[in-house]
Amino acid sequence: MSDREGPQAVAPGRLRQMEIYVTGAGGKRPCVPVDAAALEAKAAHSMSAEAAAYIIGGAGGEATIAANRAAFDRHRFVPRVLRDISKRDLTIRLFGREHRAPFLLAPIGVLEMAHRKADLAVARAAASEGIGLVFSNQASVAMEECAAAMSEAPRWFQLYWSSDDEFVRSLLRRAENCGCEAIVLTLDTTLLGWRPRDLDLAYLPFLRGLGLAQYLSDPVFRSKIPLAPPETGFRPRGGKILATALSLKRKGRTFGLSMGRMRAAVAYFTATYSRPDLNWTDIERLRGMTKLPILLKGIRHPDDAAKAAALGVDGIVVSNHGGRQVDGEIAALDALPGVVAAAGNVPVLMDSGIRSGADMAKALALGARAVLVGRPYAYGLAIAGEAGVREVIRNMLGEFDLTLALCGLAAASDLGRDCLEQAAISRPSAAPD
Ligand code: FNR
Ligand code: LAC
Repeated sequence: MSDREGPQAVAPGRLRQMEIYVTGAGGKRPCVPVDAAALEAKAAHSMSAEAAAYIIGGAGGEATIAANRAAFDRHRFVPRVLRDISKRDLTIRLFGREHRAPFLLAPIGVLEMAHRKADLAVARAAASEGIGLVFSNQASVAMEECAAAMSEAPRWFQLYWSSDDEFVRSLLRRAENCGCEAIVLTLDTTLLGWRPRDLDLAYLPFLRGLGLAQYLSDPVFRSKIPLAPPETGFRPRGGKILATALSLKRKGRTFGLSMGRMRAAVAYFTATYSRPDLNWTDIERLRGMTKLPILLKGIRHPDDAAKAAALGVDGIVVSNHGGRQVDGEIAALDALPGVVAAAGNVPVLMDSGIRSGADMAKALALGARAVLVGRPYAYGLAIAGEAGVREVIRNMLGEFDLTLALCGLAAASDLGRDCLEQAAISRPSAAPD
């Protein structure tokens, strides 16, 4: 692809604009909306009510989701002019590898709810655009299958620490074997948040056997599936349970397990999925379990960042899980500067609320080394599968490139506080940061 040769031989911003405008001169409009709100709305129409609720929704009254966006809106660029911005370098380096642009696709579970090709379509799209992908622990397609579709493109593995350490070790080994370059341990979801949209539909995908591919494909997990499902005290009510089982079988997502074994597997997953007792000593233990760089995802407090840095973690991801866990918490972007200051030399990434290339630039200006793009690519997937994810990536990249250039910067690494209002213009009466 010509736009990927050298440091941005053809700048992706202009390339993307021309692609859309020139194609449009013949009357064709983008099928995947560029505008973030239109993208979400179209995706909502492309999915079942349950899928839309699960993917779009968040914790409680969704104040955190709103706060994530409001934080981006509060920060403004102060562009500089008359600087030669004819050539741009969007690349960044992380853990010894050059990334084409300062973003990766975030780990998003249960993508089969958005599109039947799920993670495989995302892996192909990421690889063909040269963008990294973080495989989710709750993926719908096993990591080996996705890795095989990615050739040399960067991939990381996101871990939920199960209560079964032997299974965790197996996941880590598999991640290493399929070329993952980092482990992202997610810390903000040791329990699932209170999510009214899902509760009102009485729908949790895992209980329907969805989002369990990393488990059902794992030899250790499979060896531990009990003969009969453990008793939970609750029973499914309503006639849908059989239809759900049959639909899984039809889609070939049971990894050769009988319906009875699937029920037991789901129950075993429910019993072992998380470790609410996870604590700092586990982080030290994780170091002994893998040679890969370790990132902690879901840090918001500077003291936690300092502790993580002192323990020698390789990276931090500031995230509130896209507002899915705690209603009314700090916006991820607002937590970023404090974490960056406390993290010392440890690279800090961020996610939660990134909807555009301009958002990406703001996060970098506030100290993020890179960002994770979440829901927008799931929306692209829901609308148009692999092609839809590629469109979203190209739009993000295009806008990031143009934002950089039009702010008077030639390199992603030039983004800093001085590009943003509060630092660029000293206003004696302005409130402190
Ligand atoms: C997520 N996220 C997530 N994170 C993680 O570590 N493992 C996972 O399996 C999932 N699954 C998941 C499913 C869905 C449907 C969503 C929307 C999110 C969180 C994800 O990695 C990221 O933190 C958020 O998506 C960021 O918020 P925005 O920018 O998407 O709003
Ligand atoms: C979620 C889990 C899968 O946010 O991370 O739904």
